[in-house]
Amino acid sequence: MSPSDTTIEAMRQFLKHQFSLNGSIPLAELRRQREFVYTLHPELVDFVRDHRQAVIEVIRTELTDTEAASQHGLLRDFLLHIQAFIYKNNQFITFTAPEKTALIRLYADYMREMLVLLESMIETDFGSAFEGVVMNHLVALQAYVITLAAGRRQMDALIDKEVMCAEYSAELQLSVLNIDIATLSEPILDVGCGVHGTLVRYLRAAKLDAYGIDRLVHASPYLTEIDWLQMDFSVTAWGTIVSHMAFSNHFIFHHHSRDGVPDAFARQYMAMLRSLNVGGSLYYAPSLPFIEQFIPNSFTVVAHSGQFSSTQIVKLR
Ligand SMILES: C[S@@+](CC[C@H](N)C(=O)[O-])C[C@H]1O[C@@H](n2cnc3c(N)ncnc32)[C@H](O)[C@@H]1O
Repeated sequence: MSPSDTTIEAMRQFLKHQFSLNGSIPLAELRRQREFVYTLHPELVDFVRDHRQAVIEVIRTELTDTEAASQHGLLRDFLLHIQAFIYKNNQFITFTAPEKTALIRLYADYMREMLVLLESMIETDFGSAFEGVVMNHLVALQAYVITLAAGRRQMDALIDKEVMCAEYSAELQLSVLNIDIATLSEPILDVGCGVHGTLVRYLRAAKLDAYGIDRLVHASPYLTEIDWLQMDFSVTAWGTIVSHMAFSNHFIFHHHSRDGVPDAFARQYMAMLRSLNVGGSLYYAPSLPFIEQFIPNSFTVVAHSGQFSSTQIVKLR
């Protein structure tokens, strides 16, 4: 590991701590707060002061190419954490492309301000100056949330309402979806697989050829970060597609929401069905009775109503 790799890794760990120390505040409260109460990891300020030069190098490198840095590195971590924080408050929040760009800019500005502080060589009261930069960032973050809410009526309501976004064990997902993994056709795609791709990892450990997509994911050769509405389902023929508490849950939300995009969900739903190999299945929970009644007869619909409703759609020809 090079010195800058070690510094990035340490900064990453601090960043993770910062979000877990301060991430429990509801988004609605962040929007309205007049004074921010923010906890700093006791060793963070000392670490940054003691590794000033290495931290300067890391930030400088990231800021010269924010486009690349938003895919890797610290900026990427900031974006992952802040989005996870926002989605944890309400999973139905989505970002438009300009809103996403503004979020990247917000964190690049934060890093730029930190760089100015580090380059200014303040020695006495470095801690208060550091806290000052953090506070400025929180004010900017609050302004961002207020602008989000003002931009779209739907967003305003979403910020005020908590709708949890959880990840479930592979066993629970399989049980809700009524899946016996011995019967699954490959390749398998999990749509909305969760940041850790729990089910995908489980299936791969069972030697199945499984992949996952999610808008927020720890990317790997088999876990891809992409919005499911942007996914091109015509490229791969899937043996199985699964989506537990993900695509269909959001489809229902958009179906009932005044500002929703149910047409886009319906198109992707049909694209998923078309992408299946003959004999392949799409499994999802919750069920979608409002669309399942219109499935062409080249498919069979098997609905399960247990504690949670789930559906399997088999492509017959
Ligand atoms: C409730 S979680 C379920 C995750 C996983 N399927 C499970 O059961 O543990 C819903 C998932 O859908 C993902 N998601 C929401 N909107 C998405 C979108 N537009 N594109 C891709 N993934 C999305 C979220 O990031 C989240 O991981």
